Amino acid sequence: MFVDDPGTGLVIAGMRRYNLFTTVWFLGRHRRLLAELVRTSGASPGDDAVDIGCGPGKLARALGRRVGARGSVAGIDPSAAAVAYNRRRDDRPNHRYIQAPAQALPLADASVDLVMCTFVMHHIPEGHREAAISEMWRVLRPGGRLLLADTHPTRWVRFLFGRSAPRPGDSFDAIDIRRYTPSLHSVGFTDVDYAVGRHRTGIMTAFKRN
Ligand SMILES: C[S@@+](CC[C@H](N)C(=O)[O-])C[C@H]1O[C@@H](n2cnc3c(N)ncnc32)[C@H](O)[C@@H]1O
Repeated sequence: MFVDDPGTGLVIAGMRRYNLFTTVWFLGRHRRLLAELVRTSGASPGDDAVDIGCGPGKLARALGRRVGARGSVAGIDPSAAAVAYNRRRDDRPNHRYIQAPAQALPLADASVDLVMCTFVMHHIPEGHREAAISEMWRVLRPGGRLLLADTHPTRWVRFLFGRSAPRPGDSFDAIDIRRYTPSLHSVGFTDVDYAVGRHRTGIMTAFKRN
């Protein structure tokens, strides 16, 4: 389902397998999670939004429905297969799919209102995660919003993955996005907040104040 490219990340290869995985993992209710993520992001009609690590693009398209024809969505992923898959399924003129990693976004400074990045941070090599956070800050307009999400590491989740305790540095430890709070503050984000949403999903929101 994923290919490890050490310079880039754990990159998606099998879109169908991943879609099957999300159906099982979210017990057939992935759409409800997507709706919660879009709602929590504060996306509004007319916003320019970016979904970093968009994979098969379900969140990008849900965002697109929310921002409407006056807004735009860019789905970004280093996977050529994901970008081709999304382009085949979505040819709306205000939806773009771009092959790139989070740590080097091909977007202009202060060009978007909303950055979303869900279930991705632990796929980015540890050494590139700070750069990815700086890129999220750079591309946001003043007044813009960030939403990061990943699995909330309950004891049950750790048990499922055979991890009794966090192992600093490993990718499972990196699913706990609360560890990025100091980095978010250090690049300038404010009002950093964490809440647990549907299906053991940790949702972190932050703002780039005017
Ligand atoms: C678990 S999937 C999440 C897909 C989608 N965001 C979702 O919520 O279902 C992780 C995604 O991160 C992408 N990815 C891996 N390394 C990345 C990087 N350095 N920058 C951006 N995305 C990356 C993968 O290709 C894959 O699409």
